Amino acid sequence: MKQVFLLILGLLASTSSWCGGDRSTLLEQEAEQLAQEFAKTLKPQLVNAMQQGGPVEAVKICATAAPEIARELSQNSGWLVKRVSLKARNTSMAIPDNWEEAILEQFDDRRANGEPAETLSATTQTNSEFRYMKAQGVGPLCLTCHGETVAPNIKQVLDSYYPDDRATGYRLGEIRGAISLTRPL
Ligand code: HEC
Repeated sequence: MKQVFLLILGLLASTSSWCGGDRSTLLEQEAEQLAQEFAKTLKPQLVNAMQQGGPVEAVKICATAAPEIARELSQNSGWLVKRVSLKARNTSMAIPDNWEEAILEQFDDRRANGEPAETLSATTQTNSEFRYMKAQGVGPLCLTCHGETVAPNIKQVLDSYYPDDRATGYRLGEIRGAISLTRPL
């Protein structure tokens, strides 16, 4: 009898830990998909605006489209979706909290040790929430508005939208920031 009891206990313990592990894997996959969706929705709009109206128009598109995409994804998914950076451009939305700041610093270290930016992500879970971050690396396109030399007309429009902008001076391959997702549990 005691053996049966122990067996059941063992089974319960292993099933529940299996479920726990599995749930966080599912949450991570869901977050990864949302982060991809964010990038996949924004990037074509950015490229299109650059081609149609040039980078100054693209800044205006980015200033409205990016927060809008974050809002829509948040509304439709049950996750809080945002972008954060150690050198924020949008200082009302992109300043990282403690966990995000620590992860962004870790991403910089991991990249310095040879991991490519596009492979970097991180998760954490507490009793009340599951969190996920996906690094956003600097590609050639990004340099126009985040690089070391930003054309004066672009600088001007950036300053008009973001007087406290800190998001320039980046080099190819560096980490511009991250998409950060939080899901209440
Ligand atoms: C046409 C100019 C332009 C280009 C090109 C551009 N960005 Fe940005 N970026 C902006 C603007 C404007 C914002 C602020 C948007 C907002 O208000 O949310 C921004 C914000 C961000 C943020 C959010 C954090 C913050 O500092 O506010 C990240 C991350 C980011 N950009 C990454 C990138 C990456 C990666 C690329 C290249 C794939 C890129 N950007 C290309 C203009 C640009």
